[in-house]
Amino acid sequence: MSSLPAVATVVGSGTMGPGIAATLARAGAQVRVYDISADALERAKQTYNFASGVLDQVGGPKVEGGSAVFTTDISEALTGSLFVIEAVPETLELKNSVLAQIEGLVGDDVIIGTNTSGIPISAMAPALTHPERFIGMHWSNPPHLIPMIEVIPGPDTAPAVTDQLLDIVKAFGYHPVIEKEIAGFVENRVLYAILRECVALLKAGIVTPEDLDTCVKWGIGYKLSVIGPTRLLDMAGLDIYAAVSGYLNKELDAATETPQVIKDKIAAGELGFKSDKGMYVYGPGDVDAKRKDITAGLVAALKTLSSITPV
Ligand SMILES: NC(=O)c1ccc[n+]([C@@H]2O[C@H](COP(=O)([O-])OP(=O)(O)OC[C@H]3O[C@@H](n4cnc5c(N)ncnc54)[C@H](O)[C@@H]3O)[C@@H](O)[C@H]2O)c1
Repeated sequence: MSSLPAVATVVGSGTMGPGIAATLARAGAQVRVYDISADALERAKQTYNFASGVLDQVGGPKVEGGSAVFTTDISEALTGSLFVIEAVPETLELKNSVLAQIEGLVGDDVIIGTNTSGIPISAMAPALTHPERFIGMHWSNPPHLIPMIEVIPGPDTAPAVTDQLLDIVKAFGYHPVIEKEIAGFVENRVLYAILRECVALLKAGIVTPEDLDTCVKWGIGYKLSVIGPTRLLDMAGLDIYAAVSGYLNKELDAATETPQVIKDKIAAGELGFKSDKGMYVYGPGDVDAKRKDITAGLVAALKTLSSITPV
């Protein structure tokens, strides 16, 4: 029997919720998608359909019987649900009030996962009467295409709940990673270490944005998508790593604040794709074209990487 709960609820349907719902529905779950905003739900239906279409392109396993319904009625969304994922905006106060609301409408043993990007699970657990069923479940964006989920038990999470969540993640074909609670969780810690160095290199004028992207995509990203960093250490040789890190680590950027160059761009309204200007400048239609290219690239890479032997 599949470990995937037959009925699941996604609470909060903005950037992340619809793709999460599409992933679960494709695996056969009856998904209820709840949002406080009717407008957000209307947008979510389109994003859900788009994500479902992308999953068709990927062509992975599909279990018949999956579905999604969209509702602004929290009681309708949660009554009888067997598994809940909270994906509301990243503020502790809001999350805690939503978690308490959720708990009032589901059975005591229903697992409640939070998609928080980094709020400690231990900071949210006190909002619940039964924190033993509460756990971090951090999806990566876009959630229907990145098949890795960080599973973060809090201090009160029952070990059996962690095991159940690992089984649930595997049931829809994703790779779960179990972590101890730490600020930012593992994926973002690694990503932000890379981004800090990248911004510092750009600021110092060492490399152009175009060449930096080429260097990281082909020199690092391509390799790391096949070989994880721990295995890479072995492949490179620990003696080589020691020799290089011995002189290089002290040269790397170690800033503890957000770089001023980024703050200045934000102050100028340059936010990236959403304002047609950020690190790059986008002309009419460029952002849509880039989004299409990114989706097509991720679909192609996912198909290829799914077909090779894990290293
Ligand atoms: N966006 C990302 O790349 C990303 C990646 C991983 C994790 N996350 C995390 O996932 C969570 C959701 O992020 P997002 O980017 O989808 O946010 P978002 O702002 O795009 O969407 C959040 C949705 O929650 C709804 N909402 C607000 N209050 C609500 C309430 N009381 N009840 C129900 N719905 C409510 C909003 O109407 C909105 O549609 C956050 O914790 C975020 O840190 C985001």
